[in-house]
Amino acid sequence: MKEFTRENIKNLVAYKVDAPQYEIIVNANESAYDFPMILKRQFCDDICNTDLNRYPEACFPELLEALSDYTGVPTEGIICGSGSDEVIALINQAFVDPGDVIVSHSPSFSMYEIWSSIANANYVPVPDLADHIPDLDSIIQKANELDAKIIYLCNPNNPTGYTFSREQILKVLNSVSALLILDEAYIEFFGESSVDLLKKYPNLLVLRTFSKAFGLAGIRCGYALGNKDIIDVLYKVKGPYNLNVMTQKIAVLALKNRDKILSHLGEIRSERETIKSELESLKTLKIYPSGSNFIFFETPLAQAIYQKLLDNNILIKWFKDTDRHPGSIRFSIGKPSENQQILSIIRKVVTENA
Ligand SMILES: Cc1ncc(COP(=O)(O)O)c(C=O)c1O
Repeated sequence: MKEFTRENIKNLVAYKVDAPQYEIIVNANESAYDFPMILKRQFCDDICNTDLNRYPEACFPELLEALSDYTGVPTEGIICGSGSDEVIALINQAFVDPGDVIVSHSPSFSMYEIWSSIANANYVPVPDLADHIPDLDSIIQKANELDAKIIYLCNPNNPTGYTFSREQILKVLNSVSALLILDEAYIEFFGESSVDLLKKYPNLLVLRTFSKAFGLAGIRCGYALGNKDIIDVLYKVKGPYNLNVMTQKIAVLALKNRDKILSHLGEIRSERETIKSELESLKTLKIYPSGSNFIFFETPLAQAIYQKLLDNNILIKWFKDTDRHPGSIRFSIGKPSENQQILSIIRKVVTENA
């Protein structure tokens, strides 16, 4: 097959992972809280009255209305995809020519780089400064020097939990001509969205998802918010029926019942702070502040912690150490009892290795 395969695809590794089968899963920043049963039943009734032999709405008008009500962005400034993953792919299809430069801070969400390499773009990761503070000056400098097409900022950042201030975002917007893609996948946990800046900055696009705070990773629905001009271009490259009828219905139901679904946010934030202060009492762990639904920490015991949790049927995210970073762990906030179980295992590993 090699002779048929594009050069930049040859060395890519396919994303073929089985759904993890563990008692506790805290490796993917999903919500620990499932969609409420009463809404699942409502959805089932609705589906029973839906003609599944027909194609779904190609441009999801009901979902756009509900999203507009939620975000305050007019429907003409919204597009949805099968997860924000698909929206990132659409951005590349619409705007990125082979060789174009895409700049981001590093470490950040891995799909920026993966979709860039599929687009044959030149991905330029700018390493964080000390304490995982993104190096904004270098990002701006690189973007301008290399005439970047796109800059990604992830706010709050996955995996470090770093939150960009409004001043920092404005600084980038006022200093570059590239498209700024602001990934707000975790914004509900932070609360300080930059969506209002769309009114002033035509080169800004905000990414969101139902996979995190809405607890709907299983339905695969993400969206982009922007000005009509930029969204119109994304519609040009979108597949005809990219959101199936079930996804559209559940997403609308979720938005109409958002007060109930998002009522977990307070508990998740307070659990996060409890976990953070408990981890801070342990030696050898360097804990980072987080504005999201996970906590990131660095430790020479990262592998041992990962393995011990695995032995106890718990899956957490372990980042191996590299030249630039020591080993680290990203701990997605689970239910309080799960968090306590995880903390006691981490405590044990640290004490045994003291
Ligand atoms: C920062 C960030 N953006 C986007 C995504 C992708 O989300 P989706 O499930 O909508 O594809 C993730 C998933 O982990 C993420 O961490």
